[in-house]
Amino acid sequence: MSDIYPVPEEWAKRARLDAAGYEKMYGLSLADPGSFWLEQARRLDWIKRPELAGDWSFDEEDFHISWFADGKLNVAANCIDRHLKKRGAATAIIWEPDDPDMAPIRLSYLELHREVCRFANVLKAQGVRKGDRVTIYLPMIPEAAFAVLACARIGAIHSVVFAGFSPEALAGRITDCDSTVCITADEGRRGGRRTPLKANVDAAAGHAPALEKVIVVQSTGGDVTMTEGRDIWYHEAAADVSDDCPPEPMDAEDPLFILYTSGSTGKPKGVLHTSGGYLLWASLTHELCFDYREGEVFWCAADIGWVTGHSYILYGPLANGATTVMFEGVPNWPDASRIWQVVDKHQVNTLFTAPTALRALMKDGDEYVKATSRASLRLLGTVGEPINPEAWRWYHDVAGDGRCPIIDTWWQTETGGAMIAPLPGATDLKPGSATRPLPGIDPQLVDPDGNILHGATQGNLVIARSWPGQMRTVWNDHARFFETYFTTYKGKYFTGDGCRRDEDGYYWITGRVDDVINVSGHRMGTAEVESALVAHPRVAEAAVVGMPHAVKGQGIYAYVTLNAGCEPGEELRGELIKWVRSEIGPIATPDALQFAPGLPKTRSGKIMRRILRKIAENDVSSLGDTSTLADPAVVDDLVENRVVHA
Ligand code: WT7
Repeated sequence: MSDIYPVPEEWAKRARLDAAGYEKMYGLSLADPGSFWLEQARRLDWIKRPELAGDWSFDEEDFHISWFADGKLNVAANCIDRHLKKRGAATAIIWEPDDPDMAPIRLSYLELHREVCRFANVLKAQGVRKGDRVTIYLPMIPEAAFAVLACARIGAIHSVVFAGFSPEALAGRITDCDSTVCITADEGRRGGRRTPLKANVDAAAGHAPALEKVIVVQSTGGDVTMTEGRDIWYHEAAADVSDDCPPEPMDAEDPLFILYTSGSTGKPKGVLHTSGGYLLWASLTHELCFDYREGEVFWCAADIGWVTGHSYILYGPLANGATTVMFEGVPNWPDASRIWQVVDKHQVNTLFTAPTALRALMKDGDEYVKATSRASLRLLGTVGEPINPEAWRWYHDVAGDGRCPIIDTWWQTETGGAMIAPLPGATDLKPGSATRPLPGIDPQLVDPDGNILHGATQGNLVIARSWPGQMRTVWNDHARFFETYFTTYKGKYFTGDGCRRDEDGYYWITGRVDDVINVSGHRMGTAEVESALVAHPRVAEAAVVGMPHAVKGQGIYAYVTLNAGCEPGEELRGELIKWVRSEIGPIATPDALQFAPGLPKTRSGKIMRRILRKIAENDVSSLGDTSTLADPAVVDDLVENRVVHA
């Protein structure tokens, strides 16, 4: 079966890199990384140009990672100021509101400069200094971009918390990084519904003693309670600040942001990215993967609460002087045409979204797509989870009318930007494969003992050398950083993903091999959901696994053992599901919850998740050897009472 989509002729001609160009660049990047990266660093505007490139070791004795260490720059100045002369009047951000009847906002680079300076001056007036942590809990409104870039401008470290997270989750993230300031809005608006963000911050504040100041953006005009001495309206504070704020000169290795992400154990980790290497990676990958050209409109339909939003709504496109679209709403509200209507309305050239969104749209039928033109589209991107070939073909054939290459980008919060992805003028496509590594990326497949596997094979995906966009540490826990990523396979960065490589050297990500599940392209730690469940007074024990889900990719399947004397029932099931939602946020809502009198444990007390996964998948014919279980009989009950889903 020749399921290959060759590079379209016009792309081979138009693109910066053709197949030979890619091979040459890739080869150089690995053969002489020092000169390669110093050359690439020229794409940024440095206060002091670096003379050092990568300096790193993944070995325990000498563990360190740094890039361009002697360089100085300011990230916000790279995203704004350096464009002012050439394209000050060009549109930097197009903001499309949730409500299609509300007017969009277009901000030029000059206007963005002014707004970011004002926001920076408000932060300064509130005592925020270089190195301080600022939590941003905002919906997708222009102020979210201003706040992020304002932090970068004054050298404060931003920690954006997705506005869908609960007060508990927010409090944990504020406390972990000792953030004294939180920026929020009265309410968020999404899909016609409102979220009480300010009230959530009020609730979080009770568990976040470090919090001193809350800056509130007025967005919907909804009612809020302001606490004297702690809460400040942004519009009042901004009324008399200057609209100029000089950018703070930063070392390349000064922290830029923290972004919390779930792992297989414990509470979410604060992934730390630094200034020079991260920005270079975001900007370079945005240009290469999307062959970005001056004047194009780029729409990454993610939320700034995730790394995708950081790198491809804000930092990458703005560093490249692009016009970036910020969308407050959801792709299928008021109906499944919305995403394509926005494409037409703003003449979007590149659309970048997640497989889960595509599957949801597919379900509603092609008429919604066909009712729109989409003639402006040139490229379509995807990210977040493996894309099933069916969704890939729909994206290509229906959404893109067969004209637009599909750029499937594999990467992670930890990697800062795309790592394995096709280049539109260089790489023939195969539906479901993220294709080939980007320049500088040295992927390997290893077996469980760490032996390198060659040729067409399948194994665990590791990256054998550092790249500029790599995370530098886990906030406040450098030991956990080393332990999580560099001990499974000594001397290598372990991604947590399984992967197959075919005879053409194409990579096919098969999904997580650890206890992390990928729900709608968002990472969820099973341990996190379990600890939320056991926090309920009636729950004795819980085990959570992933299960196949037609739209979300993976859903959350929870097994719950109740305390003695507690009766299972529909009401309690509903209550527990609601409980997890309010403890973590709607994205953690269990899709299935089974009451289990006992969990399958080995004699040493370890839960055999393999069995739980099989039952959740409704694949009960091959449970494997259960004889090592302390009580093999529990399995029969689990099988009998399993929740069977579509
Ligand atoms: C995990 C990282 C990258 C930003 C969004 C998610 C999975 C991501 C792909 C892809 C197959 C993918 C991996 C990865 N993943 N992109 N194109 N194909 N799998 O970031 O929350 O840090 O999750 O998402 O399993 O490890 P994240």
